Amino acid sequence: MVIKTSDGREFPVEMHKARMVQKISLIPAEDRLKAIKEAGYNTFQLKTKDIFLDMLTDSGTNAMSDKQFAGFMTTDDAYAGSMTFYDFVDAVKDVLGYKYVMNAHQGRAAEHLLAKTFVKEGQVVPTNYHFTTTKVHIELPGAKILEIYYDEALETKSTNPFKGCMDPRKLRDVIKKYGKENIAYVRMEATTNLLGGQPYSMANLREIVKISKEAGLLTVLDGSLICENAYLIMQREKGYENKTVGEIVKEMCSLFDIFYMSARKNTCVRGGCIATNNKELFDKITPWLPVYEGFFTYGGMSQREVGMMTVGMREMTDPSVAGSAVEQVKYFANRLEEVGIPVVTPPGGLACHIDARKFLPHVPKEDYIAGALTAALYIASGVRSMERGTVSMERNPDGSEAYADLELTRIAIPRRVYTVSQIEYVINRVEWLYKHRELIKGMKWVSEPPVLRFFIGSLDVLDNWSRELCDAFKKDFGKNL
Ligand code: F0G
Repeated sequence: MVIKTSDGREFPVEMHKARMVQKISLIPAEDRLKAIKEAGYNTFQLKTKDIFLDMLTDSGTNAMSDKQFAGFMTTDDAYAGSMTFYDFVDAVKDVLGYKYVMNAHQGRAAEHLLAKTFVKEGQVVPTNYHFTTTKVHIELPGAKILEIYYDEALETKSTNPFKGCMDPRKLRDVIKKYGKENIAYVRMEATTNLLGGQPYSMANLREIVKISKEAGLLTVLDGSLICENAYLIMQREKGYENKTVGEIVKEMCSLFDIFYMSARKNTCVRGGCIATNNKELFDKITPWLPVYEGFFTYGGMSQREVGMMTVGMREMTDPSVAGSAVEQVKYFANRLEEVGIPVVTPPGGLACHIDARKFLPHVPKEDYIAGALTAALYIASGVRSMERGTVSMERNPDGSEAYADLELTRIAIPRRVYTVSQIEYVINRVEWLYKHRELIKGMKWVSEPPVLRFFIGSLDVLDNWSRELCDAFKKDFGKNL
């Protein structure tokens, strides 16, 4: 629920209560400096004992409902033929409208199975935008991902409500240029993650699917963030204001040949799935399931997780779940914008994204702008966010750096975990950081793995700026905060 205060502000109200809590603590700035140094200035390498608010991701970090925990207790652990799996199949049929379903241990495992089955060397995969793991799974067999968004998608400050749309004109050009046989499938991603959690519209989805089907192409929907996209369509697209999130989700799914998701976001459970109504396509994927994931009735997940996911699937279209992150992101981004911080607008799902290029205009692109800002935010607050810029890119085949379209520091909002007052804390520290932004300089690699380097790579700061930033913080806040 959102209330309007007497001065006209919108304020998200949590539609749940905390019945169990986990203690968190804030270590002092000096210790944070030590921790981030030891982590190679990579927030993935921090230990949670050193983190105050963990806003790295909304993946696997959401609060589950009491009913989901109950689902954990009443599962059927059978290796084969588990009734828990068949309950899950029923939930997918009811919520998404697909008949044929398989589990996978998480979203990227589903991507692996799809790439293994449908992607061949030399082919292309047009998409509204890539996700890190998606790109790797498509490129490993020797194919290429083509991002064919509208140019406006890369404008971080915008009023376009649907920056996650695919450009239909570009799709037609791609079909003409490459031909049906060289296009593995057309992929749409809900609440486009790396564009800053931006949705597509239903009108666009319909147009893209129509063009694809006319050309005889397979269509794939990455629905890892499907409920947030549906919630934003309900709020922003004409004709959808009186539809429910559940109806919009089902309408989206009805358009696509294949659906897959990371369950770690919308259903709040570690897992994933692939679903379709096309038995022939399903039968092409299934042989690989026991090879890479597990038997057909658990697909790499534990039955307990499948049980919790079944409940999560039925709960995820409730607007108080689907809108929980969206409304907090909106509040967060609007407040930051109000105090002059450059954030991605309009606010989308998943996270509040700071435009690091605008925040740190003095840092050159070669010096990993968003990486530096993400490390600086941790030093100034104990808040763990994630770099979504050049550090998160793969190098070009010739070894040269592939600069990201956007340099974002993503401050994720796990569902039903943090309160508005905790978000106010982050706003307060981001404001302080903005006033001291001149102190932040760039970074350089110390150790750089060959693939998905952002996970375990380590970096160092240029000119020892982290020391200066820490000292400035202590001067203003004392040595205990
Ligand atoms: N697709 C999208 C759109 C995602 O956001 C993710 C994961 C995946 C696929 C892969 O799923 O992690 O379950 O293997 N996003 C996480 C994030 C990692 O932090 O945004 P996974």
